[in-house]
Amino acid sequence: MKAKKKVVIVGDVRVSALKQNSKHKPASKGRSGPAVPATTATAGATGLRPRVETGNTAIADLGTPFVAQPTLAERAALDRIDLAVDLAPDHGGLVLRSPILVASGTFGYGVEYGEVVDVQRIGAICCKGTTRRPRAGNPPPRVTETPGGMLNSIGLQNPGVDAVIDKYGPIWQGWQVPVIVNVAGESIEDYVEVARRLDGVPGVAGIELNISCPNVGKGGLQFAIDRDAARAVTAAVRRATDLPLLVKLSPNVADVRPIAKAIEDAGADAICAINTLSGLAVSADRTHAFLGNTYGGLSGPAIKPVALRIVYEVAQVVSIPIVAIGGVTNLDDVLDFLACGAVAVQVGTAIFADPELPVRLGDELRADCLRRGLTSYHPLIGTALPKRTGAPSAKGAEYRP
Ligand SMILES: Cc1cc2nc3c(=O)[nH]c(=O)nc-3n(C[C@H](O)[C@H](O)[C@H](O)COP(=O)(O)O)c2cc1C
Repeated sequence: MKAKKKVVIVGDVRVSALKQNSKHKPASKGRSGPAVPATTATAGATGLRPRVETGNTAIADLGTPFVAQPTLAERAALDRIDLAVDLAPDHGGLVLRSPILVASGTFGYGVEYGEVVDVQRIGAICCKGTTRRPRAGNPPPRVTETPGGMLNSIGLQNPGVDAVIDKYGPIWQGWQVPVIVNVAGESIEDYVEVARRLDGVPGVAGIELNISCPNVGKGGLQFAIDRDAARAVTAAVRRATDLPLLVKLSPNVADVRPIAKAIEDAGADAICAINTLSGLAVSADRTHAFLGNTYGGLSGPAIKPVALRIVYEVAQVVSIPIVAIGGVTNLDDVLDFLACGAVAVQVGTAIFADPELPVRLGDELRADCLRRGLTSYHPLIGTALPKRTGAPSAKGAEYRP
């Protein structure tokens, strides 16, 4: 019998979930312990087996899930585990019910996934990058696969902040899941204007500043790679809105720590780390760069070690919450980021292969806490950080580009 396919188009990426033969029983590769939701359990329960297609090939098939049903007693114990996290504890609070969020640009505006995922069970949705005016984005091709990841150069294609508010605000308002609007711009005025328009809009729970954008006022230098520009844009947006303010770091710098500190000092509530790494692909005939925009942003498992290093370093110089992003595909990735000081993680590229992953990771984290005898995941945070106090270590500088 031919498999039924549900297809979601998110930007340039085609996400499809294959309806599979329900008689097929997967082999268990779960950890020992009670029969609690394990890796890919939800996908198994719904019979949806996701694949990702980025134009040329179907690159990912995450294999067949392990399904285990908890008993009623185990269910009750799982429900008692506290996964709540506050991403703006010093500024009115942005409390999420789960520390697993979805990353900007990989989950649209959330509505696109409504038929595939229970979006209300995600910790928060960071929506597509939103600008003051509509943007058509970069010329194609805009996406290509790489070993362990993908390169994208979407170029912030979006309908502009007013259209986003009009179209999605009323929908988001009825949702339990908080929506954090990812904001981009080419000048401080751009960022401030978008923040002002979002301020007080029902359904908008917070702002995530994407500062990996060329600063027209500084001749195209990115806000994210210049400490003073990062500080200035954060401070200006802070003055313009009472919304919880998250600022997203770029990995494309020699030392991210002074930038992170400047962002904290300028009033950010939380830091998100990291955005994509700058990369390039070559055309098949090797006569030009493959992407229409020449450069693209590398994401996916290939960047996880870089993201871990940055989270580890930033956690030693700031005291605001850190949300980790970069190559999360399974619970071990989540636990690694928590150990390095993140209080929450975002799932990005992996969603294209497995849209239910963010929900499932919340279930798996809960189950992991139960196995460890914890009532909250918070004791898992920062366990890999150096124990000593005093000046942060400069070790690692020799490995930086
Ligand atoms: C197709 C695509 C579009 C993206 N668009 C945005 C964006 O609009 N704003 C932003 O801050 N980050 C954007 N990102 C970066 C992701 O939010 C995330 O930081 C990055 O992909 C690393 O996480 P990952 O390895 O889990 O994908 C985009 C990433 C991808 C793959």
